[in-house]
Amino acid sequence: MINYTEKIPNNVDLGRDRVLQRALEHWQPAYMGWWYDMGPNESHNYEVYLRTAISVEPDGWAQFDYVKMPEYRWGIFLQPRDEKREVNFGIHKGQPAWQEVPGEYRSTLRRVIVTQGDTEPASVEQQRMLGTSCPSMYDLRNIFQVNVEEGRHLWAMVYLLHRYFGRDGREEAESLLARRSGDADNPRILGAFNEPTPDWLAFYMFTFFTDRDGKFQLCALAESGFDPLARTCRFMLTEEAHHMFVGETGVSRIIQRTCEVMKENKVEDPSDVRALGVIDLPTIQKYLNFHYSVTLDLYGSDVSSNAANYYTSGLKGRFRETKLEDDHVLRDAEYPVSEVVGGKIVTKNAPALTALNERLRDDYIVEIADGVGRWQRVIDNAGIPFRLTLPHKGFHRAIGNFAGHFISPDGEVLGEEAWKNHKFEWLPNPKDHAYVQSLMSGRVVEPGKFANWIAPPARGINNQPLNFEYVRFN
Ligand SMILES: [Fe+2]
Ligand SMILES: [Fe+2]
Repeated sequence: MINYTEKIPNNVDLGRDRVLQRALEHWQPAYMGWWYDMGPNESHNYEVYLRTAISVEPDGWAQFDYVKMPEYRWGIFLQPRDEKREVNFGIHKGQPAWQEVPGEYRSTLRRVIVTQGDTEPASVEQQRMLGTSCPSMYDLRNIFQVNVEEGRHLWAMVYLLHRYFGRDGREEAESLLARRSGDADNPRILGAFNEPTPDWLAFYMFTFFTDRDGKFQLCALAESGFDPLARTCRFMLTEEAHHMFVGETGVSRIIQRTCEVMKENKVEDPSDVRALGVIDLPTIQKYLNFHYSVTLDLYGSDVSSNAANYYTSGLKGRFRETKLEDDHVLRDAEYPVSEVVGGKIVTKNAPALTALNERLRDDYIVEIADGVGRWQRVIDNAGIPFRLTLPHKGFHRAIGNFAGHFISPDGEVLGEEAWKNHKFEWLPNPKDHAYVQSLMSGRVVEPGKFANWIAPPARGINNQPLNFEYVRFN
């Protein structure tokens, strides 16, 4: 029997909710089984300097202390309720926000929650081996922080399934622990979450690109007319910011280190750069191309009747919906969408309602471009003439209007042959992967030490020094 308020910090009155308690009595041990199997490899006895959310108050959501990860207090938190909140878009606009699931949207809403929930344990599975090759104790602590919080995000979605979806919800909650990233028979739902994350460059790229997709999906769901979903996602966003920070600064530190070594040794040729044990800039560009394109697919088809339905029904809004100044119904509005016609990329207006995936993707691209601009400044400040670029939106896409076409990073429509000839100039090839992998031999865990291929961060976690003992091995 679990002591709920002690073990599971929450603001949903769990101690008095018998239905929820019963559901969790079954699910919580299964979750722990999943964590022991699929959580970070060989980490169960480590004491990690982690932040834990114990309340939604400003001083309660980031409590730092040493914790063994299996003893992490995965909590259930919703942003406090605003009694006056309304459905802010779609055909129900102006009605009070729903506190229970509207019957006619039950299965759609469940699907939306399951799809979001499935990404959370997936990324933990993708990253589970990386602790054995960490470039520092600081980075090891950061990946563990990301992992436990993705675990908590799974809890957040499972709370909704248990609390609002009865038996169907309980079954879905179990399935979330049964699917496995990359498994041929029972894979995770979305493509990018079945890709391997084989090295730390991939990890930082993933947390920069793919966790940011998570942010945008959560932002859209945080607008939902179904109030418990909106409030749950709002709180998750507070944690997501750190994941993207880990990714952006991780890549930035790799670039910085590469540039330092290039300058010190006056080398530019990638093979000379590699000989010095750092990651050459063209390889970083290829990783960027890969993670960007795979993540763009997560937004779904450019033109989608599902997206229109989610919006019209009030289930999933736009990025910053309530800050936008229009009718929030989009009956006559249009939005530009690209497609390939006769070997050329053309842009046409589509009904804005059906183009909502594309719009969210475009909102995401704006933020990504800013981040890549900040990486570029590191290169510019070193005085190295190399430009990092975002490939064309149609590059290497498997979903939507560009799927099945062969688009170069510059946006040129190619034939399949031409694509194949250039593919490995644009995407990491087996040699690139092998080189990056060769840097991942063994872990660096002496406090204050960093692997040769990455610069130290500007500052430590929670104002601790860089040589702080972020992880105690037992
Ligand atoms: Fe997450
Ligand atoms: Fe995340």
